[in-house]
Amino acid sequence: MTLWSGRVAGELAPEVWDFLRADDAELLPYDIAGTLLHAERLHAAGILDDAELAEVRDTLARVGEPDAGAEDVHSFLEAELGEVGRKIHAGRSRNDQVAAAVRLYVHDACVEADAALVSFAGAILEQAEEGAATPLPGYTHLQRGQPVTLGHHLLAWVEMLERDRSRFAFAAKQAAPSPLGAGALAGSTLPLPPPPNQLRNSLDAVADRDFVLDYLYAAALLFTHLSRIGEELVLWTTREFGFALLPEGAATGSSMMPQKLNPDVAELARGKAGTAIGRLTGLLAVVKGLPLAYDRDLQEDKAPLFGARKDVAGALAALSVLVAGLEFDTERLADAASDPLLLATDAAEALVLEGVPFRDAHEQVAASVRDGSFEPPAAGNRLGDVAAAVTAAKERWGC
Ligand code: ARG
Repeated sequence: MTLWSGRVAGELAPEVWDFLRADDAELLPYDIAGTLLHAERLHAAGILDDAELAEVRDTLARVGEPDAGAEDVHSFLEAELGEVGRKIHAGRSRNDQVAAAVRLYVHDACVEADAALVSFAGAILEQAEEGAATPLPGYTHLQRGQPVTLGHHLLAWVEMLERDRSRFAFAAKQAAPSPLGAGALAGSTLPLPPPPNQLRNSLDAVADRDFVLDYLYAAALLFTHLSRIGEELVLWTTREFGFALLPEGAATGSSMMPQKLNPDVAELARGKAGTAIGRLTGLLAVVKGLPLAYDRDLQEDKAPLFGARKDVAGALAALSVLVAGLEFDTERLADAASDPLLLATDAAEALVLEGVPFRDAHEQVAASVRDGSFEPPAAGNRLGDVAAAVTAAKERWGC
């Protein structure tokens, strides 16, 4: 039985039914929350009496898993409500209903991402604290450039995550207003009180999925960062670099080569960046060109959204374990960072302080590197107080 069987007689062909059905069971708690809000509006308007509102609350508190027989979670919920369910859809449509549920879902997903980011940043900052003064070569073009410290390098990761944090907060803010009251597209004639923080325009309220795209963008850029961090973890844990050892709780072995300790967690985080970017571009392409207001195309927002939430939580949790357990080979790091050529820029800058124009200083030092006569100056401090920067970051992140 569909919500629209009064209009469309007969049974849908099973192929059509299978094609139309939404895989949206994950929305259930959010659709319940949205339905409760709507029931309260109906009650305020005198359309549901006290007993009916109580019955809605009661039933919604113990709804089970959606079955495969319903067209979507909204149809399932109405059926679960039984007799009072026949009243619940007054003044609403699945169009504002699904938009409300997806908004609540995105909001929760952002809050969850924030907590996961805090744990991951916390694990990185612990390592940064320990390695605040540990020398490390800094790279450009993956060629040794100038000396940095491990703490300074790890703080760069934290900066990326801090921007991610603000992007998830932005998506949460975008998702917060309520589309309830928009009905199918043009509101309703019923005297329902507006929900708090109601969206201004009913057509936009049912058609807008920008907040999903904002979330997918935040996730895509987070994964882009995780792919860069993952790549560095892969490099650092090779025998060639030998900068760090993977913890056994976050490393994998080979089914054939007994000696292997593989960085699959870092690689999978790197790989999932591709999928995360695909989710964003996929939904952008779905929304592109859609006429106002609601179109069924929008049902395609579910899979990317659910997938992104799962991957954001999964990747950050696994990477937190990996980073927390990394063992840095400080001797090897110090050895790599003591390459005298890393101080070539310092040598040119020392000449600048003696009044030599920088381009001349650059040429003089380059010539000494080429003929093998380069003498490194005493290392200066160009990074500021890394330990203080770690402390400040810990304060910002509350860890
Ligand atoms: N399952 C649908 C979706 O996810 C719910 C809205 C259906 N609305 C409609 N007019 N057919 O978008």
